Parts: sequence; C-alpha cells; structure tokens
Amino acid sequence: MACILITGGTGFIGTTVAKELRSQGHKVKLMDLSTKRKTDPNFYGGSILDPYRVSTVMRGCDYVVHLAAALGVRRTEARRLECLYINIEGTVNVLEACVKENVKKIVFSSSSETYGNQNKSPITEKSPVNPISNYATTKLVGEEYLRAYYENYHLKYSIVRFFNVYGEEQKDDFVIPKFVNSICEKKPPVIYGNGKQVRSFCYVSDAAKGIVAALFGENSTGEVFNIGNDQQPISMQELAEKIVSISGEKDIVPEFIPMEDSDRTKEREVFNRIPSIEKAKKMLNYHPEISLNEGIRRVIEYKRSLNEK
Ligand SMILES: NC(=O)c1ccc[n+]([C@@H]2O[C@H](COP(=O)([O-])OP(=O)(O)OC[C@H]3O[C@@H](n4cnc5c(N)ncnc54)[C@H](O)[C@@H]3O)[C@@H](O)[C@H]2O)c1
Repeated sequence: MACILITGGTGFIGTTVAKELRSQGHKVKLMDLSTKRKTDPNFYGGSILDPYRVSTVMRGCDYVVHLAAALGVRRTEARRLECLYINIEGTVNVLEACVKENVKKIVFSSSSETYGNQNKSPITEKSPVNPISNYATTKLVGEEYLRAYYENYHLKYSIVRFFNVYGEEQKDDFVIPKFVNSICEKKPPVIYGNGKQVRSFCYVSDAAKGIVAALFGENSTGEVFNIGNDQQPISMQELAEKIVSISGEKDIVPEFIPMEDSDRTKEREVFNRIPSIEKAKKMLNYHPEISLNEGIRRVIEYKRSLNEK
C-alpha cells in the first residue's frame, strides 16, 4: 500500500482518481483549494501557490498525482495571469516539494490542447506540439519543468495528455454537461460554428484508470501518454443529436450560433481532435471500457436526479 497525494483532489477527475486508488488499497490525501469534500478525513485545504503548505501536506507521501490547475477556455483566457501562476508556478511548487519530500514519482495531467490543430489524425504522442491557447502553453511549460526536474533532481515522472474527459460531475461549462443541462430544461443544445468540429470523448473512470496505470506502469517513467477513448469520434452536431435521442426529448432540435458569439474565437478553435491511444494500450494495458452512449446515459440520469431534488 502506498500513500498518494492528489493535488486538485476534490475536482472532477481527482475525485474519480481517488476512488480508483482507494479501491486498489492505497492511502490517498486530497489537496485542493475547493472545500467541497472537506468531510473526507484525508482532505487538506490549501493552494499549490503556497510552497510551505504543499510540502507539509506531501510529507510522508510516496507518489503525487498533480491535477490542480486553472482550466476552461473562457476562464483561462479571461484570467491569463491566474492561469500562468497556478499552472506554471503552482506546478513548480509541487515539483520542489516532491524533491524535498523524497517522492518516488509524479504524474502530471497535461492536455490534448498542447497539440492544437494537426494535419494528421489520429494524434499520436509523436505529433508535434502546437499550442494555440494560453492554457495549452502553460500545460506545455509544466511538461518541460517535469523533464528538467528529472534531469537535474532525478524526480521520476509520467505525463498524461487527456482528451475530452467527461462524466456526471464535470463543470457545467464543458460541452456534454452543457448540452445535457439544456435538454433537461427542455431547451435546444447550442452548437458553436457549423457543428463539424470532431472530438472523441472519454468517460472519467476510464481516464482515472489511465492516470493510475501511468503512475505504476513499468517503463512508464519519462513517457508521455495520450489518455482518451478512440472508439467513437463524433462531430458536435452528431453529439447534440445523440444526447437528444438518448434523452428521449425528440422534439428538441439543436441550435447553431456563430463561433464569434461563443467563448472560442475561430483562431483558437481546434477542429479535429482524435487520439491515438496505441502507446497507452501497449505500455499500460489501458483499454477504455465505457461507451459514449453509456456515459451520456449516466450524465443524463445524474442531471435529472439533481433537478428532482
Ligand atoms: N476534464 C478534461 O477534459 C481535461 C482535459 C485535459 C486536461 N485536463 C486536466 O486534468 C486536471 C483535472 O481537471 P478536471 O477536469 O478534474 O478539473 P477541475 O476543475 O474539476 O479540477 C481541478 C481542481 O484543481 C483545484 N485547484 C485549482 N487551483 C488550485 C490551487 N491553486 N491550489 C489547489 N487546488 C487548486 C480546483 O479547485 C479543482 O478542484 C487539470 O490539470 C486539467 O488541466 C482535464
């Protein structure tokens, strides 16, 4: 049994990673700014911008899963400095604490956004990085710091680049919860642009299994892994139609608004993002299990149960 600190541990993905690690018998500490799970006996409030607090909470931990971050396109563009501080300075504070507290290994949650727009699909870990947003740039800098700490201080690491993770407790400003919320309110889901942007969605329990596999995988040190689900790439229009169909609200028809009126500008929109997960399959025995239909069904059920309360 190992002791693992999860930064951002009460967030959407962090909560599921904690569940997965605990189910394997590990002790898990959750560090987060948000006090949403303060009743968890192993919850430690605090910011990764406070190096002393990070070290204190990390003391005695064997491993670190670093998920704390500023994210969301609208938020990270509107609060660029906050994004820089949390995602870069915060990450360096976590790395410093890892060295000081003799942590065996850290896993860092990076993003498919680091690839930006690519000519070739699916995107492999060998595809060139091409960040086109403030957020993506901070994630890439975080990755480079991990490499530097490995070279200089022998801190072992793996990097996972998540591709469109979704699930019941994801924040409402991401596309699947947004579409589902609209439909639960009997309103049309709103699609930005022409609806032809393609994504490949990964249910949160699969993403959590991926990050845990990267943490413990033999030969995973120093490696980058795409973690997503390659099974069902789907355009935004098809996604909206699928959610309408699964919900049974057959009279609702998706609505389109110009990209200019959305929280993404045309220049920053990524049009096609499908992962190759062959490397994770081979090296980590990572095989996503939850189909898009099943994941969407779970999100709809969850949102409806909230509305009934
Ligand atoms: N959800 C996705 O599709 C996706 C895709 C790519 C990458 N990621 C990455 O995965 C990680 C987890 O994302 P998530 O979807 O669970 O988001 P989330 O917002 O639910 O979780 C992030 C957590 O970090 C915490 N946090 C923020 N600033 C902090 C600070 N200064 N100190 C301590 N805690 C702080 C937040 O309170 C939150 O609980 C992030 O690093 C994100 O960039 C997520």
